[in-house]
Amino acid sequence: MKPKCIRIEDMAAHNPVFPNLVVFEHPLIQHKLTWMRDKTTSFRAFRALLAQIAGLMVYEVTRSFEVVDVPVETPMQMTNGRRLAHTITVVPVLRAGLGMAHGVLEVMPEARVGHLGLARDERTLEPKAYLNKLPRDLDAGPVVLVDPMLATGGSAASAIEMLRKAGARDLRMICLVAAPEGVARLLAVDPDVRIYTAALDERLDERGFILPGLGDAGDRLYGTG
Ligand code: PRP
Repeated sequence: MKPKCIRIEDMAAHNPVFPNLVVFEHPLIQHKLTWMRDKTTSFRAFRALLAQIAGLMVYEVTRSFEVVDVPVETPMQMTNGRRLAHTITVVPVLRAGLGMAHGVLEVMPEARVGHLGLARDERTLEPKAYLNKLPRDLDAGPVVLVDPMLATGGSAASAIEMLRKAGARDLRMICLVAAPEGVARLLAVDPDVRIYTAALDERLDERGFILPGLGDAGDRLYGTG
């Protein structure tokens, strides 16, 4: 029997409820995510897995980036090649986003990096900004926001507001695990942002943690839990 062909669209499926949400069904990403969910996984392994998944996601996230034709001389002759048309900026939300940025930059070292520091107040669940260090010309090309957790969506909504204020036009967010509440909030605040995630989980608990989730990504990444 002929083996079943898996289409690329099936590995990164558009969610029917949230049209701007892409969920990665890729077996390798799901395999690694399951290790990350496991509470016995060490911070050393967690860190490596987060970077690996982020790197794997870049392929799909950058699929629509524009390219320009350029001449290139090979050792044999002149030919036409293609280069990325615009400057790319990766923006991790500290702390946990740094772990994803590391993996993204392994695959896309030509990107610039902006930093946003946001910490969620454990009582109000609202984010507080403590760092905003972005390139001046954010409108120079695509901006990729990275943060593994999209829980209430407060941090991502703040980050996107800061990025839009700084000039970002083509804006995408990569996360690892998203709650429906967070996706809905983010798309209500900014319907143009495209969100990529490895999992759309069930819901938030009363403390604003994603269920089933993977716990506090920052703490698990840096061993501070
Ligand atoms: C976590 C996570 C997101 C945010 C998500 O960061 O990395 O930034 O919470 O929650 P939200 O969608 O409800 O805003 P946290 O504030 O714990 O900081 P940390 O990365 O320094 O641990």
